[in-house]
Amino acid sequence: MKKKIIILGIESSCDETAASIIKNRDVLSDIIIHQNIHKKYGGVVPEFASRLHEKNIIKAVNLSINSARIQKNEINAVSFTLGPGLIGSLLVGASFAKSFSMGLKIPLLTVNHIQAHILTHFINDSNINNSYPKFPFLGLVISGGHTQIVKVNDFFKMEILGSTLDDSIGDTLDKIARKLGFYYPGGPMIELFSKNGNCKKFIFSKPLSSGLNFSFSGFKSHILQFIKKKSKDNPLFIKQNLPDICASIQRTIGEILLEKMKKAAIKTNIFRIALAGGVSSNYEIRRMFLSLEKRKNWEIFIPKKKYTTDNGAMIAITGLLKYEKNLFDSIYVSPYSKFNKF
Ligand code: KG4
Ligand code: ZN
Repeated sequence: MKKKIIILGIESSCDETAASIIKNRDVLSDIIIHQNIHKKYGGVVPEFASRLHEKNIIKAVNLSINSARIQKNEINAVSFTLGPGLIGSLLVGASFAKSFSMGLKIPLLTVNHIQAHILTHFINDSNINNSYPKFPFLGLVISGGHTQIVKVNDFFKMEILGSTLDDSIGDTLDKIARKLGFYYPGGPMIELFSKNGNCKKFIFSKPLSSGLNFSFSGFKSHILQFIKKKSKDNPLFIKQNLPDICASIQRTIGEILLEKMKKAAIKTNIFRIALAGGVSSNYEIRRMFLSLEKRKNWEIFIPKKKYTTDNGAMIAITGLLKYEKNLFDSIYVSPYSKFNKF
């Protein structure tokens, strides 16, 4: 019989304090404490984020253990996000996880946040495909902090094929959404308002970025200028056209991502794609990618919505996969805010 392995995963890289218990790839609990304070600031305020992690981390971990109906001493190891992310926020999760591992005398496992977004696909019942992607596959990580195309050869053998050269896709959507009058995070609001919109009403030029890299800062300025100019001519422009503006932006973003991934697939000869990160919960982007499956040999893996945005289960599954390979870490590791290579 397979050994029972129970992992506690802790995520605190940005504005969610999350803790999850996983038992052999099954999620027993997945607790997320959201920080609503950032809403009115149009983005995450790092100082507020770390203070709220400090306030909420014990609560999140206790809730995750209680709702998993396990005892603390059944946990085999604790995993936590080491980076990339906001350094003050990461330090809270790291300090807690280190103390927890020392207190219970259990191993410590560090997790790369981007790798974890991709590895959510290996949680049982985590994607709409009901199966794990086979190796090799291409991961497309689209979130508030990251926009990356990753070639996944194995769980911990990943190569970055393309990245954004400036802003991330999520940040771009959040900044545009703010201009449209939405609170942070604006991505879900753009999705909501686009539902009844005409996605071909406004045509925006797409960024010209080399190879498999992305660039969103010019695209963002182009849209912000467009809104400014139109609003100057007609102060009611946003109000009168909100669904069409949102739908047109969403379609253009979807096309940018799709074009890059087609290029990546042809270049690598890998036609198996797994979406990951907060922006991959967008229904239009999911629909556009799923339409690739009509083509011969393409396989598209879409995470369930609850596993797209930051969560503890993605940290716990990565910890579990590391545990199975004895990839333990020492308590002397330090969090990092940025990284370029796995
Ligand atoms: O993965 P995530 O929770 O955090 C990071 O690792 O950054 O991603 C957050 C981002 C935000 O920019 C948010 O606006 C975007 O994901 N997002 C969406 C949707 N839901 C979240 N963007 C578009 N459509 C959505 N439905
Ligand atoms: Zn994330």
